[in-house]
Amino acid sequence: MDFKRKDLLGIEDLSKEELLYILDTTKSFREVLERPIKKVPTLRGRTVVNLFFEPSTRTRMSFELAEKRLNADVLNFSVSNSSVSKGETLLDTVKNILAMKVDCFVVRHSVPGTPHFLARSLPVSIINAGDGAHEHPTQALLDIYTMREKKGDVGNLKVTIIGDITHSRVARSNIWGLSKLKAEVRVCGPPTLIPPEIDRMRVKVYYSIEEAIEGVDIIMMLRIQKERQERGFLPSLSEYIELFSLTEERLKLAKEDVLVMHPGPVNRGIEMPARIADGKRSVILDQVTNGVAVRMAILYLLLSKKSEG
Ligand code: CP
Repeated sequence: MDFKRKDLLGIEDLSKEELLYILDTTKSFREVLERPIKKVPTLRGRTVVNLFFEPSTRTRMSFELAEKRLNADVLNFSVSNSSVSKGETLLDTVKNILAMKVDCFVVRHSVPGTPHFLARSLPVSIINAGDGAHEHPTQALLDIYTMREKKGDVGNLKVTIIGDITHSRVARSNIWGLSKLKAEVRVCGPPTLIPPEIDRMRVKVYYSIEEAIEGVDIIMMLRIQKERQERGFLPSLSEYIELFSLTEERLKLAKEDVLVMHPGPVNRGIEMPARIADGKRSVILDQVTNGVAVRMAILYLLLSKKSEG
């Protein structure tokens, strides 16, 4: 298949074939990461700018590592040290960086739609590294890649996503991706943290964690996003922990070989206790490893053709 896109903005607008093609391409790069020398010359001469307007550990570092593994030149933009703090607009900022002849922006921003706006405004590739509560496509790709790596065909899986669905770009992107691959997707959380638009997504909604976990292959716990809880979504954190935290008892309701996932950062003791986060069912660090390979695959698919030209 010829991957013809300029940008990767979300999972919602990808076809099933594109999704599978990205996952298959990721496998090749995952193999590169097992070599003694984890580097290929694919993007030599290309320049990628990591433009992060929100904090990030995993996504920012794994994009940077992916870019370096592909031999691209890398620029990291830090808002606090930039002229944004002097009042320069986002568009002026990126146009000025573009004037330095770069090829791609990886963008994380708290405002949904920011990467889409930049993609419409600029002739170079834009990759969405998380836009507000909208989408986090590379996170969903690495999650689905990890499920496929450990369990095979995603279409046979029952996946439950637990926590703050309303504010979760990870949940949205995973729901789109998993539904396209015909997995059974369940979501679970307090009614105040389940968004009304869930009705137009192909998911089953649960308000009891015990029912949501029953017989599933994958449990994906979401971080309680304290920075996006404007007010009143949770009566109290202790009640949330009581009703929605993953415990050893609750884990027994899932399939015996269930996998526990979390996009990170984990609030230990809130979403789950340390012994589950670090336990034998957890694949949280595998997700992080696979994130580098997924991001190498995306950068390759978006930029390598131009390298040849
Ligand atoms: N999963 C994720 O997006 O983590 P970071 O915020 O650390 O990038």
